[in-house]
Amino acid sequence: MENFSIYFHIPYCKSKCPYCDFFKKVEKNIDQEGLISSYIKELEYYKQLLPQRKVRSIFFGGGTPSLIEAKYIEKLIDKAACLWPFDDKIEISLEANPNSNHDHMFSNLKLSGINRISVGVQALNDSDLRFLGRTHTLKDALTSIDEILKIFDNHSIDLIYARPEQKIKSWLEELKLAASFGLKHLSLYQLTIEEGTVFARRGIKALDEKQAAEMYQTTVDFLRQCGYPRYEVSNFATKPYQSVHNKVYWQGDDYIGIGQSAHGRLKIDGKHYAYTDPHQAELLSNQERATELVIMGLRLEEGIDKAHFKNVSGLDFDDFVNQKNLKEMIKAGFVLNTPTSIKATDKGFRLLDKIILELCC
Ligand SMILES: C[S@@+](CC[C@H](N)C(=O)[O-])C[C@H]1O[C@@H](n2cnc3c(N)ncnc32)[C@H](O)[C@@H]1O
Ligand code: SF4
Repeated sequence: MENFSIYFHIPYCKSKCPYCDFFKKVEKNIDQEGLISSYIKELEYYKQLLPQRKVRSIFFGGGTPSLIEAKYIEKLIDKAACLWPFDDKIEISLEANPNSNHDHMFSNLKLSGINRISVGVQALNDSDLRFLGRTHTLKDALTSIDEILKIFDNHSIDLIYARPEQKIKSWLEELKLAASFGLKHLSLYQLTIEEGTVFARRGIKALDEKQAAEMYQTTVDFLRQCGYPRYEVSNFATKPYQSVHNKVYWQGDDYIGIGQSAHGRLKIDGKHYAYTDPHQAELLSNQERATELVIMGLRLEEGIDKAHFKNVSGLDFDDFVNQKNLKEMIKAGFVLNTPTSIKATDKGFRLLDKIILELCC
């Protein structure tokens, strides 16, 4: 039976962080009941499209999913379980903010069926947390980390680095601390200044490209030594703890997105569809889907498996890419190409956008 994954977008936050352009609303009284019943209807809609599938992973992302009571999260998981069989090793993740932590929140989430938790810590010192406009303190973050370590077997935190004025030495101190907790997974994002955000309006500039690249390589090298190998541009974990759900996106497998701004990709009867809404499907050509697979797949340390690429896109990898440019990329030491796979080298990871452009033109 073919697999697919489910993403639920929870579009609420307690406040808006000045760097963030994810779709979210600040609402004091969230109609949780109403949100969940509309999401249940969407699940029922997808059941008609995908009658014979198995669920590989579920992800509650945001926004701030930890603002939703665990009993409602459980309703959604139970509904999905009524509609489709679950894979034996199903991963069910939820993003939590340290500022939404309340009594027994994490243990209730575990009881609801969540088996992987990711906490948005963002910085491991109070002054940078303030700069990032976070409403939690370092102490709140450490309390959340302590709790998730006790309650879950699979856990992750998000940190943002390459903050303006940030020095490699102080970032390494934060990294050392992050690596010392015993978490199974780390997501480390370079600060991007997104159009329309408060940071953009205030004219805040990200660290210059050269310094950010140096900080990135230091991060990758340091975490490799600490037992957190990079498996995707911004994600670090050993194989058993790599995010099953996020790998579905990077490997081009099927998923549905539920909630405003969520999107999905489905292959039905050999045709590729991009969903922006359950009732809005755009047909993608094999070439368009293949381009997406190159963009997403090269982000992975293991790169693109050519047999999987063919299976998903319907196209042969070596016929699809620009062979002349591929040879140049190999000669320059940016990619490692074998008959079965292609992956970026450390040097190539710094130039992924260029490599993708050259391969897909
Ligand atoms: C969808 S957000 C949700 C996480 C959760 N609401 C929180 O803030 O803790 C996922 C992650 O994206 C990262 N992120 C958001 N905006 C970013 C930006 N402009 N630059 C770098 N990372 C960003 C943050 O690390 C954040 O934890
Ligand atoms: S970073 Fe998280 S809490 Fe902050 S605005 Fe974005 S989604 Fe909301």
